[in-house]
This record gives sequence, structure tokens and C-alpha cells, in this order.
Amino acid sequence: MVKIELCQNLPLQHLLNKEAFGPNFHWGVAIAAAQNEGAWNTDGRGPSIWDQFARRQGKIKGSAKPFESVDFYHRYKDDLLLVKALGFSVFRFSVSWSRILPEGIGRVNKDGIAFYNRVIDECLHLGLIPYVTLYHWDLPQALQQDGGWASHQMLKWFTRFTQVCTDAFGDRVKHWIILNEPMGFTSLGYMLGKHAPGKTGLQQFFPAVHNALLCQAEGGRLVRASVSGAKIGTSFSCSEVVPYTNREEDVQAAKRIDLLLNRLFIEPLLGRGYPQEPGFTLMDKMHIHNKAWKYTERMQFNMDFIGLQNYFATTIRYNPIIPYIQASEVKAAVRKVPHTAMGWEINPDSFYRMLRRFWRYGGVKEIMVTESGAAFPDQLQAGRIADQDRIHYFQQYLHALLRAKKDGVNISGYLVWTLTDNFEWSEGYKARFGLVHVDVKTQLRTIKDSGYWFRDFLQA
Ligand code: BGC
Repeated sequence: MVKIELCQNLPLQHLLNKEAFGPNFHWGVAIAAAQNEGAWNTDGRGPSIWDQFARRQGKIKGSAKPFESVDFYHRYKDDLLLVKALGFSVFRFSVSWSRILPEGIGRVNKDGIAFYNRVIDECLHLGLIPYVTLYHWDLPQALQQDGGWASHQMLKWFTRFTQVCTDAFGDRVKHWIILNEPMGFTSLGYMLGKHAPGKTGLQQFFPAVHNALLCQAEGGRLVRASVSGAKIGTSFSCSEVVPYTNREEDVQAAKRIDLLLNRLFIEPLLGRGYPQEPGFTLMDKMHIHNKAWKYTERMQFNMDFIGLQNYFATTIRYNPIIPYIQASEVKAAVRKVPHTAMGWEINPDSFYRMLRRFWRYGGVKEIMVTESGAAFPDQLQAGRIADQDRIHYFQQYLHALLRAKKDGVNISGYLVWTLTDNFEWSEGYKARFGLVHVDVKTQLRTIKDSGYWFRDFLQA
């Protein structure tokens, strides 16, 4: 077994001091349209793949629907006030593509544009810096009917969407994130079938990855050309991958998973083309399928920053039953190591190592942690949520970030996932990540102790 260093009992509270992160460090929260807005058919919004997916039996825990969600659409003023009251200065949100282009292309919905204008103006009014994510997993259903991310038309569609956003918001929004976790939506949505649009197998996964890579770079070029003074990034998930034993077959299995989880999207972006791992037949198929070698230049773009999002470390063993990948995870619970309500391993040291690793690529100018957080089974008791687990989580992860920063990694900010509890994709409303508790029946917001902890930390 591999030894994992845990710093469970370190007295971290007193070690953490906001000043240590530097005066220009950006502190913020992140949300996403499909998870927060609700108002799914209000003011001319068209349906997204998540509205459609949620109707399918058994796809989402508790048969939860994203239709109302936590009603950010109507409550954005209150929620932004909470961001401000907790002491943050950055607000990251995504644009619902089908709210501004109900059919995905063509006609622009002026009411949709007006909503985001209100959100942006309110941010600026409160002194919050808006960070706009262009794509956070909610493709218009109309485009999915024509193949979605697996369609060769994707680049054309995404270009149009990006242009509409930069034209409408570029005068006031200077921070742009092109894609949120492309590995997340391509693998969960187009290979494993766990997320919308629920496709399984490799047939659609290959083109989805390829099209996301093209959109990632082209989106960057477009924002650069359209928005003066823009700071442009894109957000990657990352997870340290550890072999279960040091047997050669486990080590090789971990390398394959590492390629998928950590290398597939950044290496083409940095101009290195698709990553390869000797003997990894999936990647050989990918190359043949997408004739990937022809595209090295078009998948490259010089981002101003890379967004990193690290939710877990993973331990991998060889498993011959799994096609192509021949690997599977040994879950944290099985290994009896600390984990969150999602079953995700808590390992701040691995977060530290991932920050250093992405920095060492060379060509990465700046890293921003564009999401970080954890779900725990929060209980509302007498109007209070004493989420000590979450506070401890943030303390450990911020401590790890500081170590990486002190080692010379240029980290410019930390955005908490997330402001309020929200629609956690296929987990429905059960998994709660917020600093603020939401009763989804009444929409009542209650600041958790972790929210107060941040307020005290940021205002100290
Ligand atoms: C996604 C969020 C999601 C969070 C927790 C991230 O991968 O960007 O949308 O809620 O993980 O699962």
C-alpha cells in the first residue's frame, strides 16, 4: 500500500493569515448557471441538455430537477450581497447558452442578455470582479439534437456563442474562463453516460474531446480579439493519481488514468499536441480517429492563466475487465482514508503537489484555483450549521496552497466552490457544497459556520 501523508490534526487555524497570500491575491466564490439559476423557461430561455437529461428515469438522485434550482435568476441581488458580506472580491458565474441563444445559434434572446447585464452591473456596483465562464456544461438541447460536442459543427456554434457574449459583456467583463473542466463534461457526458447528454462508449467521446480542444483554443483567440484588456483562462480538473501497489501493472494503469485526468487537455493547449503513453491503445485510437497530429497548432493558445480545480486524489489499480483503460479506482472508503460526502479522498498534500506539477509544465504563466470545496452532510440545527469538517477542509487546502505559493508557484487567487448549496448534477440536491445552506423548498438561505469562518479570515 502507498503511504499517504495526512495532516489531519495540525493546528492550522493560527497558521493561516490572509496577509501571507499577498495583497493582490483574489478571493472569491464560483457558481454555475445550470446549478444555480433555475428559471429554466423564464423570459425566453431554451432548454439545455440538463433539463432534458433530468427527465430521464434514474439518472439523477432523488429524481431531482434543475428547473427551479436555487433560483439565482430571481435572487441574484441577495446572493451577491452574501458574497460581499462574506468578504469576497471575485464572483465567478457561467452564462447559460440557451438563455441567450435559445436554439443554440441564430436568434439572440435579448431578455437573456439583460439578465447577465443585471448580474454584471450588480457585481460592479458592489465592487465585485465578475469572472465569466463561457461553458459550464449546459449545452442547448437544440444543439445536442444535432450531435452536441461530438458534432463537427461544434466549433462554429461555440464561436457564435462566444462572439455574442463578448459583444454583450466585454465592455465590463475583463476576466474570462473559456471552458469548465472539459475532461468532466466529455467523459461523464459522452463516455460514461453519468451526466447529460448521457452518451456511453468511445464513439462520441473522441470527437467530443477533440472539439472541446479546438473550442478551448479558438475561444481564447476570439476573446483576445474582441475584448480589450481581457485576462483569459480556462479551467481544468486535476487529481493526483497514485498506483495502488508498486506492481508494474498498477503503475502502468495509474499512468493511463493520469493521462486522461491531468494531461489530455493541457498538453494540446500548451502546443505539445495530444499526450501519449506507450501501450495505451485508447490514445492510439484517439489519434487515428481524430487525425490529431494535424491539429497541434489549432489546439494551442497562450492563456493568461490556467484555472485548476482539485477535488480529490485517486488510487488506481490494474483491472483487465475495463475496456481500453484497464484500470479502476480503489475508493477512499475502501482504503479507510478521510473522504467527503462524495466519497472523495481529502488529501491537501496532493493538492500542493498538483499545483507544483502544473506550474512545472513551463508555458503556464499564472495559476488560479477557480474552484475548491467539499460536500459534507450538513445538518441545520436551531438555525445554525456547524460545518466544522468544511472549515477544516478549507484550512488544510489553503495551507497547502500557501506552501506551493511559497515554493514559487505563481498562484493568483482562490475561488470557493461554492456560494450556496445548489444542484449538484447527478447527485441532485443531496450533496451540499455551499458556504450558505439553502432550503430548496423555501429558498431560505442560512450562512454556515464555514461562511462565517471565511468572513472572519478575510476581514481579519
Ligand atoms: C464542477 C462543479 C461541481 C463540482 C463538485 C466541479 O467539477 O465544476 O460544477 O459542482 O465539481 O462536483
